Amino acid sequence: MAQRIRVFAPATVANLGPGFDVLGLALPRPGDELEAELSDRPGVEIVAVTGDGGVLSTDPDKNVVGCAANDVLKRAGSRRGLRLWLHKQMPLASGLGSSGASSAAGAVAANELLGRPLTPNEVVLSAMEGERAASGSPHADNVAPSVLGGIVLVRSLEPLEVLSLPVPDSLHVVVVHPHCEVSTADARRLVKQAHFPLSAIVANLGSLASFVQALHRGDLALLGRSVDDQLIEPLRAQLIPGFSAVKKVAIKAGALGCSIAGSGPSVFAFTASLASAQDVGAAMQSAFRTSAGLESDLFAGTVSHEGARIV
Ligand code: HSE
Repeated sequence: MAQRIRVFAPATVANLGPGFDVLGLALPRPGDELEAELSDRPGVEIVAVTGDGGVLSTDPDKNVVGCAANDVLKRAGSRRGLRLWLHKQMPLASGLGSSGASSAAGAVAANELLGRPLTPNEVVLSAMEGERAASGSPHADNVAPSVLGGIVLVRSLEPLEVLSLPVPDSLHVVVVHPHCEVSTADARRLVKQAHFPLSAIVANLGSLASFVQALHRGDLALLGRSVDDQLIEPLRAQLIPGFSAVKKVAIKAGALGCSIAGSGPSVFAFTASLASAQDVGAAMQSAFRTSAGLESDLFAGTVSHEGARIV
């Protein structure tokens, strides 16, 4: 019988305020799980998908996990194939990097079964093929942290250059996922159509640079001030019912900074302790309920240093 492995790939928060398409971090949970085994039949077969409410295709060209795994086979020049079982354990279209986690799981599982022919950078490139299939453009700010863990900066896509940034010990993250959906493709279209004033671009450049400096210094107050997005957040806030009320209470409850997680509708905040993360999270959940009538899920914890891995 073929050896079967099980890979876990973590959820991620992308953009982190000023870093549209270039900053992302890995969460300890939730995440997707993928079982995978080698097969003598070339190509990828998705045997089953569970936990998706029947929404996702098992056609390997239409499911991100198939696209990512196929790209690993191609890059490795393998004549063998893969059989996959995807277990979705996180909501779709949530802003938590659901397609990124599945893509990362597909690329990492394929690379592991083939004996790790690809470098971590190449694994990220393969995972980006999943993102291309999901949203039409191969951005790396979800798949890179899902593959590598930690907080990452995508300096360049061509050639791909991803930098791992330091994670201060006391940094905590709150993510609140309201029970509504925002399609990443729609949210990206909104951004593509926009024209941005130079003053807003300059403001984001300053905040992005100080975000990186804050992580190097371990300066959480500066980090909080740097979670300031004058480009994308004002456009996408309209897609998230209750966003401005939620952000306001997060800051009032002690968050260092707060913005949209990825393309939303989840909203994230940074805090300096777990107790503060829990207080801020509870306030944000309450604001979603009162201002928009939305129930939500809460994650409060640290950044995960580990990316996708065999479990
Ligand atoms: N950087 C991406 C975006 C993340 O904001 O569109 C969503 O997948």
